[in-house]
Amino acid sequence: MAAPGPPLNIVHVNHSRPAKFGVQCGPYAEVETLSTTAEKGQGMNPTKPASTAAETRRDSLTIIDNRNGRQYEVPIKNDTIRAMDLRQIKVHESDFGMMNYDPAFSNTASCISKVTFIDGDKGILRYRGYSIEELSDKSTYPETAYLILHGELPTQSQLKEWTYHITHHTFIHESIKKFLDGFHYDAHPMGMLISTVAALSTFYPDAKDIFNPESRLKQTYRLIGKMPTLAAFAYRHSLGMPYVYPDNDLSYSGNFLNMLFRTTELQYRPNPTLERALDILFILHADHEQNCSSTAMRGVGSSHVDPYSATAAATAALYGPLHGGANEQVLRMLLEIGTVNNVPAYIKSVKAGEKLLMGFGHRVYKNYDPRARIVKRIAYEVFDVMGRNPLIDIALECERIALEDEYFVTRRLYPNVDFYTGLIYQAMGFPVTMFPVLFAIPRTSGWIAQWEEMLLDAEQKISRPRQVYLGYDLRSYIPLDHRK
Ligand code: CMC
Repeated sequence: MAAPGPPLNIVHVNHSRPAKFGVQCGPYAEVETLSTTAEKGQGMNPTKPASTAAETRRDSLTIIDNRNGRQYEVPIKNDTIRAMDLRQIKVHESDFGMMNYDPAFSNTASCISKVTFIDGDKGILRYRGYSIEELSDKSTYPETAYLILHGELPTQSQLKEWTYHITHHTFIHESIKKFLDGFHYDAHPMGMLISTVAALSTFYPDAKDIFNPESRLKQTYRLIGKMPTLAAFAYRHSLGMPYVYPDNDLSYSGNFLNMLFRTTELQYRPNPTLERALDILFILHADHEQNCSSTAMRGVGSSHVDPYSATAAATAALYGPLHGGANEQVLRMLLEIGTVNNVPAYIKSVKAGEKLLMGFGHRVYKNYDPRARIVKRIAYEVFDVMGRNPLIDIALECERIALEDEYFVTRRLYPNVDFYTGLIYQAMGFPVTMFPVLFAIPRTSGWIAQWEEMLLDAEQKISRPRQVYLGYDLRSYIPLDHRK
């Protein structure tokens, strides 16, 4: 690392459009006063006296290192600079070179993707260019999963074939049932799901052939087909009820309801409103670009492990209360609040920093999460069938207060997808512990799409961030009897 010195001065974004970066920009004349020459950069123009603005290439960033006055010109592509271009910025030849420090990757693009687009300020979400509103209105989850994975909507015959293969990969090996039986009766179904997905890798050694497109497609059918079965079996295990085998005559969401709720019926017929509501919820959860679990999928997958192991890691990431586990926490929060009258006191404790308003806030959305809007509408459709969930009144009051309150307004905290989903799931008869599982099932298609995109991207390598080491320098070992 370079010796401490005056800060780096990013002088100018030489852009054909107004600068988007939150960098310190100044008139180009300031750059002209510098006249040092730096080492040849990797993708970065060697430093030169910046005689005229016209000589500087457009779509670049001019940086001055105030430690030594050297100037660098870094290319801008897709509104980003390459972090590796910064490595050439050194004070001494032996320096490691400049890195950017970005805990939690708040402003780091780790990949180029064509799967999902989000504009967090405008509240826009699109899969492969199609708006979430239109997909949730017109598509089905299997069709949307195809779109996410293949990049285009399927033709009739492609959809038929796709649905056939997913439907015919829903059964799980009987040994998985024995594995599930080993869990305690009150084991959290997410823990069971993580473990059983990971266990699938031991049944399909062909999954290690990750650069073979046929193998990848086969594992895709299996993963999308078997996730609902694993989830439903975990649920039935917690009840001590016999497992219900998949019914190939039902839709993806209808079959899931069958495996969950069938008792003595000869053939289970899902309620069409609930079947469609679940299908739409699956569409809404199918992908969300580089979130915590997709990043886990890509990161773990970058070691070239099989997709079942990577999916288990992604499912584990989703389990956390700040990510997919938030829907479970929202419901627990609403139960804790108890009545509409208690909402102001709860909001007060949130503002005092004692609690979080679960289901609010998002790293990317600084506007109403477009998924939450759709979920809110579906909630009433489900209530029409199952009866109104009384917790909705508490949720609506939380939302009403929060959307007017200065604390939430200034921080741009809006309801996210998890705020209303729990109310629907509860109305449909799911226990709270199943809520994150209901997120994991459809997100599997997004995870696989992100994983495959990572594998086929020639620029991607094993994921391996850097660190800023601020620990001890070399020390001598002190024998135990000499330590104080
Ligand atoms: N309740 C109260 N305050 C909040 C909340 C919340 N739910 N979310 C953020 N804040 C505050 C936070 O304390 C901070 O305040 P200050 O500036 O005074 O320190 C400010 O808002 C910015 O928050 P942040 O923690 O820097 O934001 P982040 O981008 O790191 O975190 C988040 C995003 C989703 C983890 C966070 O908003 C949160 O914990 N929300 C509750 C959990 C939740 O609903 N998660 C589901 C996310 S959507 C589903 C998914 O895709 O996973």
